[in-house]
Amino acid sequence: MVQLPPSCLVLALVLGAADLILCTGKTKQPHKTLPPLFLCALIMPPPLQGINRCVARNFGHDSVVCECNSTYCDGVGPVSLPPLGQFSTYLSSRAGSRMEPGRGQVQVNSSGAGVRLTLAPYQKYQRIRGFGGAMTDAAAINILSLSAGAQEQLLRQYFSEEGIGYSVVRVPVASCDFSTRLYTYADTPGDYELKNFTLAPEDVNMKVSCPHADTEARPPPRVPSSSPASSSAFQIPLLLRAQALSPRPLSLLGSAWSAPAWLKTNGALVGKGSLKGQPGGKEHKTWAQYYIRFLEEYAKFNLTFWALTTGNEPSAGEMTNYSFQALGFTPEEQRDWVALDLGPALRSSSHPHTHVLTLDDNRLLLPHWAKVVLGDVHAARYIHGVAVHWYLDSLVPAEASLGATHRLYPEYYLFGTEACAGWSPLDRGVKLGSWDRAEQYAHDILEDLNHYVVGWTDWNLALDQTGGPNWVKNFVDSPVIVDAERDVFYKQPSFYGVAHFRWPRVLLYMSFLNRRRSLLFFILRSLRMTSVCSKFLWEGSQRVGVSASGKTPLEFAAFVRPDGSVALVVLNRSSSAIQFEVWDPAVGYLPCTAPAHSLLTVAWNTH
Ligand SMILES: *[C@@H]1O[C@H](CO)[C@@H](O)[C@H](O)[C@H]1NC(C)=O
Ligand SMILES: *[C@@H]1O[C@H](CO)[C@@H](O)[C@H](O)[C@H]1NC(C)=O
Ligand SMILES: *[C@@H]1O[C@H](CO)[C@@H](O)[C@H](O)[C@H]1NC(C)=O
Ligand SMILES: *[C@@H]1O[C@H](CO)[C@@H](O)[C@H](O)[C@H]1NC(C)=O
Ligand SMILES: *[C@@H]1O[C@H](CO)[C@@H](O)[C@H](O)[C@H]1NC(C)=O
Ligand SMILES: *[C@@H]1O[C@H](CO)[C@@H](O)[C@H](O)[C@H]1NC(C)=O
Repeated sequence: MVQLPPSCLVLALVLGAADLILCTGKTKQPHKTLPPLFLCALIMPPPLQGINRCVARNFGHDSVVCECNSTYCDGVGPVSLPPLGQFSTYLSSRAGSRMEPGRGQVQVNSSGAGVRLTLAPYQKYQRIRGFGGAMTDAAAINILSLSAGAQEQLLRQYFSEEGIGYSVVRVPVASCDFSTRLYTYADTPGDYELKNFTLAPEDVNMKVSCPHADTEARPPPRVPSSSPASSSAFQIPLLLRAQALSPRPLSLLGSAWSAPAWLKTNGALVGKGSLKGQPGGKEHKTWAQYYIRFLEEYAKFNLTFWALTTGNEPSAGEMTNYSFQALGFTPEEQRDWVALDLGPALRSSSHPHTHVLTLDDNRLLLPHWAKVVLGDVHAARYIHGVAVHWYLDSLVPAEASLGATHRLYPEYYLFGTEACAGWSPLDRGVKLGSWDRAEQYAHDILEDLNHYVVGWTDWNLALDQTGGPNWVKNFVDSPVIVDAERDVFYKQPSFYGVAHFRWPRVLLYMSFLNRRRSLLFFILRSLRMTSVCSKFLWEGSQRVGVSASGKTPLEFAAFVRPDGSVALVVLNRSSSAIQFEVWDPAVGYLPCTAPAHSLLTVAWNTH
């Protein structure tokens, strides 16, 4: 939707060259020619108001979904960050707005109306690393159940610049509950050397490779031919396609649910059970080596992992009769396994720089878990961060878990690795059009970001209308719900709940309008405009201080982006609209209104 036409690119190059000739002359004064991209803006269609709007469908919940098909999907459109003195807004609301753009005038004086949010850009907190979702077997099956065109639209929504620009993908290491069967990559009993380690058809056929193009790593067929995994055997690999759409390398994050049954005390993938033996023993060594083999197999497809977690939800494997794949670890056992097995194995592998994130479980286990694992220098030296899930968040204040962990171990980053709506027995499964769930997402992201978390990862990238497939019927919701029969997918309100934290990348073209940069920069910009530009956008944004003049139900967080512009995200979960104003001492007062049940992003240039 937001692609510059080729003619524009040519024009940009020609004008840019002219521009260069002018400015490599005597003067370094601002030149008189129009910056090339500005002309592009002139010859491009105007902002796509009414062209790329949400095709709203109401399924009887409190708001609507946006329907997309093989030829159409709503987008944010090419909107620019306005010049100094004005500000941009994007609004989504229960009433039906979806990333609706607006403009405002910065005021010299305070209006005195409503609460004032004062920006403190000199109070600097964590840098943001990125957002993403999980390519579970279920997500892959659902995406591949669409036509090629609709698949492309869906992947673009998540990974391209015209979408919400996810940069993180969590990849389950073998099966989890969102699989159609139980498997690991080493199900041959007694295979301590992992000689029979092999990726599953789910990986090879759906996530990493097209079987036609690849004969070398194709595993033996283990799936009955009627299953979705093998019926999609002619599909093009999803992770590689996501990578191709993304302007920068995706940060892949691997988490394993269970070790092979023969390595475990309970001899099964499900239920209460942990590794046999002791850390340093052969089962623990094999389990560490299993991760290395996983990294090696994916690397054959040019997919390298940014990080591994120490395993999904270790507390689940401590529960009697736990219903799906789990591997129990106490923090003490995990500490020793990392120190004696995983850490040394990874360091001496061909992937020594892979990050290791501990916990990968609910934050209520913090700060205790961190104290045990990070408090031990032998384990801590192999660990880079602490991964948290959002379930049961309401039981423990963020300050007491995330905040306390950050204060104890500020050199380890906190990262959100799993969240989904519709998991609670009281509010189960898919709810098409639930605005309440968008608020749950936005609330959690704001709370995390305001407590030092550097990134946030959603659960399944896409589910079907029942919230699956899930072999144990643990159905939940997703920001994208696929209807394969109609060949459409629905972008739920929660999709926009995440979208507000991803600044529209298109802004970048425009904010460079106002700047003059070096020759090198110009060349880069002309040749690979989008990729170069987008790197300057959100990754590396830093949270800064912002405080309210009085008590307010608003939730908010502010970020300074690498180009110096500011983005403020405001959530109003209450049922009436209220005025407020933002005060950035560098520019002035920004009068705003947060409608009832809304999510608002306000952004402005500071120079
Ligand atoms: C896709 O959706 C658009 C907008 O609703 C519609 O105009 C178009 O006909 C649809 N295309 C297909 C192939 O259904
Ligand atoms: C701002 O307030 C000052 C002092 O009250 C006043 O003199 C000035 O006219 C105001 N400026 C604007 C643009 O309203
Ligand atoms: C495991 O690998 C060995 C040697 O490569 C092979 O002979 C054997 O059949 C394999 N076993 C299974 C269960 O795949
Ligand atoms: C991986 O990348 C290398 C170098 O770019 C290329 O030669 C190779 O074909 C790629 N392999 C796959 C499986 O894509
Ligand atoms: C666990 O499952 C077993 C076998 O189904 C059953 O006998 C036992 O009561 C269950 N335990 C709990 C705590 O539910
Ligand atoms: C959001 O709306 C509610 C309901 O009217 C209001 O009480 C609250 O103050 C609003 N929030 C802000 C920040 O204006």
